Amino acid sequence: MFTPEVTGTPYQPGATRVLLLGSGELGKEVTIAFQRLGVEVHAADRYEHAPAHQVAHHAYVLNMSDPSALRDLILQVKPHFIVPEIEALATEVLAEVGEDETLDVTVIPTARATQLTMNREGIRRLAAEEVGLPTSRYHFASSFDEFTAAVDEIGFPCVVKPVMSSSGKGQSTLRSPEDVQAAWDYAMSGGRVESGRVIVEGFVDFDYEITLLTVRSVDPETGEGATWFCEPIGHRQQDGDYVESWQPAAMSENALDNARSVAARITNALGGRGIFGVELFVRGDEVWFSEVSPRPHDTGMVTMGTQRFSEFELHARAVLGLPIDVTLVSPGASAVVYGGADIEQPGYTGLTEAMAIPETDIRIFGKPVAGPRRRMGVAVSTADSVDAARERASEAASKIKVVELG
Ligand SMILES: Nc1ncnc2c1ncn2[C@@H]1O[C@H](COP(=O)(O)OP(=O)(O)O)[C@@H](O)[C@H]1O
Ligand SMILES: [Mg+2]
Repeated sequence: MFTPEVTGTPYQPGATRVLLLGSGELGKEVTIAFQRLGVEVHAADRYEHAPAHQVAHHAYVLNMSDPSALRDLILQVKPHFIVPEIEALATEVLAEVGEDETLDVTVIPTARATQLTMNREGIRRLAAEEVGLPTSRYHFASSFDEFTAAVDEIGFPCVVKPVMSSSGKGQSTLRSPEDVQAAWDYAMSGGRVESGRVIVEGFVDFDYEITLLTVRSVDPETGEGATWFCEPIGHRQQDGDYVESWQPAAMSENALDNARSVAARITNALGGRGIFGVELFVRGDEVWFSEVSPRPHDTGMVTMGTQRFSEFELHARAVLGLPIDVTLVSPGASAVVYGGADIEQPGYTGLTEAMAIPETDIRIFGKPVAGPRRRMGVAVSTADSVDAARERASEAASKIKVVELG
C-alpha cells in the first residue's frame, strides 16, 4: 500500500491528494486534519455547500452511487487516497480503480472493506461465519414470507433492519406478532436502495454498548503495520441515532480485553489503514460484535475534547501511514444538537450560554438546511469525571436553538 515518503503542497502538481467521498460533519473534521498536514483535499457530496465542502480545497456535487459519475470524478482528481465518509457509494468502482496500477490510488481502508460494510449481510457474515465473532443470532429475508419465517426462527424480541441502511432508518424492534406487519412496512420504506432485503437479529439484552475506535497504521519502530485502541466510548442511542457519547466508558478489565480482541480480529479481517469504529454490546464480561464503520464514527466526536489527537487526526495520520498516539487527556462527553424542525436558513442562538459552561466547546456543522432529527452541531465538554462531562455537554447542547433566518 502506498505510503508517501514525501508529501507535497496543495494546489501544486506535487500535491498529496485525498478524495473524500461524503462531506458531512465527520468529513469536515477529516478535511481540517488533512489540511493541517498540508494535504490537498477534494470533497464530494450529493448536495452543495455540505460541511466538508466549506473547508476543502475543491468541492464536487454528484451522485456517488452512480458508477460512471464516481469513476469520472476519480479520473479527474487523480487522488493518491480515496477516503470514504459514507456507505452509499458505487463501491464496485472503488474496487476497479484500486486494482488499476496505472492510477496508483489507495482506497481507505480497502475497497473490499467498503464493499463488505455497505451491506449488513456482508459484514455480518464475515464477522460471524468467517472470523467467528460472537454476534446476535440473525437471519436474512427478501420477502414478507421469508421475514415472518425469520422472525419465527429468531423469536421475540427481535430487531429488523434493511441490509442497506444507516442511522436507524427503517429499523425497529418487534416485541410480539402484532408488530410484524408494521415492522416490515417500515423496513421497506427505510432502506437506502430498494433491495427489499432485511436482517432479523435476536435482541441482545446488553448492559451497555460502546464504540471501540481502532486504528491501523505503521509502527515507526518496526516499519510494520500495527493496531492501536482508543479508550472505549460509551453512548446512548435513540431511534437508532446517537444522542450522547462519553469517554472513557467504565468497563471491567475482562470486558475491555474481550472488546479489544473482537476489534482486533474484525479490523484485521478488513485490513488496510485508517480508523475503524467498532460497535460492541457488553453484558458483564461478555462482548458481542454489532457492526463496524471503516472510518471515523459519529460517537467519536467526543475525542475532539478528550484525546491528544481526535479520531479525525488519527484517521488522517493512519491514511498516510504515520505514527499513532491514542492518549486520553481528560474524561469527556459529547451531546448532539438537532435541527428540531424543517428550517430553510438555519441560525443559531444560545452560543453564549452554552460556552459559559466550563470546559465546553460547540461545533456548528454549517449544514445548509435543518430537519427535525438532522444533526446540526455538537457540544463537547471535558470534566474531572465522565458524569460531570455528560451533564455539561447535555446542558450545553440544550442551550443551542436552531432558528429560521429566512
Ligand atoms: N440486536 C440488537 N439487540 C439490541 N439492540 C440493538 C440490536 N441491534 C441494534 N440495536 C440498537 O440499535 C442501535 C443501532 O443499530 P445499528 O445496527 O448500529 O444500526 P445503524 O447502522 O443504523 O447504526 C444500536 O447501537 C443498538 O443500540
Ligand atoms: Mg450503529
